[in-house]
Amino acid sequence: VCPGSFDPITNGHLDIIARASRLYDEVYVAVMINQSKKGLFEVDERIELIREVTSEFANVRVETHHGLLVDYCKQRDIPAIVKGLRAVSDFDYELQMAQMNNGLTGVETLFVPTNPTYSFLSSSLVREVAAWGGDVSHLVPPQVLAALNRRLRKD
Ligand code: PNS
Repeated sequence: VCPGSFDPITNGHLDIIARASRLYDEVYVAVMINQSKKGLFEVDERIELIREVTSEFANVRVETHHGLLVDYCKQRDIPAIVKGLRAVSDFDYELQMAQMNNGLTGVETLFVPTNPTYSFLSSSLVREVAAWGGDVSHLVPPQVLAALNRRLRKD
């Protein structure tokens, strides 16, 4: 499983999903619900965008889960969580989550080093730059760029 908030999916996420799809027979992209964060995109919109931009990968499925990631993994019989690491700064928190998740159910976490092109990239920066009219066309797939333009023009 490649879990995340995906608000919205970026080229960095897509790179990790593509690489996971080459490593595993089946990959779930799980849009996890964070109750304390009101997103820019509704969960259904995020799912729709992820489905569009991953349609070329026959072994990738997109779902959402409300609750613990380890419970989702148990329900789906998923043995491994795949996470991208952008920089050392990601490592502290990711290690904590990986150790917690492994302690809870034994699920493993595999860390994939992010393509350096995307080492600075995050959904929150994409939202901020796009909100102020900056160019994010090299950071997100075209479908996401169009959705950002629609959303930010409308609001
Ligand atoms: O894209 P994000 O917001 O960095 O992803 C973080 C995410 C969703 C993977 C993480 O917050 C998560 O796994 N949330 C689900 C709830 C859960 O299992 N929390 C305990 C983590 S040890």
